[in-house]
Amino acid sequence: MITLEYKGVSETLQQEWLQILRDNTDVLERAQAGEQKYADSLGWLDTDEWADEAYVRRIEEIAAEVRANASAFVLIGVGGSNNAARSVIEALRKDGETEIIYAGNTLSPNALNRMLASLEGKDFYIDCIAKNFETLEPGSSFRILRRALKKRYGSDYAKHVICTGTKGSSLEAICDAHGYTFLEFPLNIGGRYTAISNVGLLPMACAGIDIREVVRGARTMQEFLRTAPAENNTAYCYAALRNLYYRHGWKIEMLSSFEPQFRNFYYWWTQLFAESEGKDGKGIFPVTGEFTEQLHSIGQYIQDGENMIFETFLNVEAQQDTLVIEKDEVEDFFDYLTGKDFYDINKAAYEATLQAHSTKFPCNVITIGALDAYHFGELFWFFQFACYLSCGIMGVDPFDQPGVEAYKVRMFEALGK
Ligand code: PA5
Repeated sequence: MITLEYKGVSETLQQEWLQILRDNTDVLERAQAGEQKYADSLGWLDTDEWADEAYVRRIEEIAAEVRANASAFVLIGVGGSNNAARSVIEALRKDGETEIIYAGNTLSPNALNRMLASLEGKDFYIDCIAKNFETLEPGSSFRILRRALKKRYGSDYAKHVICTGTKGSSLEAICDAHGYTFLEFPLNIGGRYTAISNVGLLPMACAGIDIREVVRGARTMQEFLRTAPAENNTAYCYAALRNLYYRHGWKIEMLSSFEPQFRNFYYWWTQLFAESEGKDGKGIFPVTGEFTEQLHSIGQYIQDGENMIFETFLNVEAQQDTLVIEKDEVEDFFDYLTGKDFYDINKAAYEATLQAHSTKFPCNVITIGALDAYHFGELFWFFQFACYLSCGIMGVDPFDQPGVEAYKVRMFEALGK
């Protein structure tokens, strides 16, 4: 189960945090029950609504077909239609599994040409994931990938097309008209909250990830967080800490870890908080730190620059790999490392960083048991619920994103839509 600790928080701030926890129990209780006013966006609150046995079995069937007939699967999607699956796949994929290729997340011709070139000579399926199928990136990639499929399979290409769209959407109509496989995108969940549904789970299953474990992790977290009282509700405590720091001028949250396997998870987490919380002139700006590498770049600013960042470390309890540094005959002045495991060296770097950073600003530590499918499920549900609560405490709508329309209106006008 996920645990939460904090460091570098003065006694006075701790008292204020306890007050925030007391003052906002109604926010927690409403979220645990699921608020009527957000009924259109809370389909993720009960994992079984979109990831029960029947959904999981159907996903596994489609994934088995993909894995039997192709060596590559193209995930066409952007933002919430891409980030969750990519987090897990890129962290846990094993050699020899179906290759997952990403499209629909860029308009760069260079990137798209490279993506198409990487499919040359391969058998592949595509899955176009889009909530209302108006987004430019997936729509345009879907076109060029249908063409690539037709080139490879001729009139049989339709068997290789899957679309994940909402019921009644134009994407469903396209599937009906052209014989593509249609999977349902939950109508009552916004993209960034769809990890545990057809949206996130099909690409994961195609990559050989045990999606039952992802769902089990999410469900376990849900059962705990929807019943746990304020004082030991880790998501609520974290949400209250974020708001405490924000009120004291730490307006940027850096999610850091010493495990590069989290690289794509950072994208998911950044989107979740930025799109959910950044509105009405409010919000904590989410950034991420991949350590130890970025300690050699942004580390300087974090320690010595303007004091506006607080940090949340993602920590993994179980040791998953080992690599010991052997004695060496070259006098390289690194003998102090002889016999040490990189696991312990990395841990020493983490502990030193936590100590150093928490002398300057507050640091949270979120610890998961292991870096595996189950714990990714826990992380998705934990952060989604924490984000919902944090927005509640801050007083913003967690589920809309009116700000992203501003550039789209101008872009569509320029493109003559
Ligand atoms: O969270 C959201 O709703 C958005 O970030 C969407 O996921 C993103 O814009 C993609 O939208 P769509 O699936 O409609 O293409």
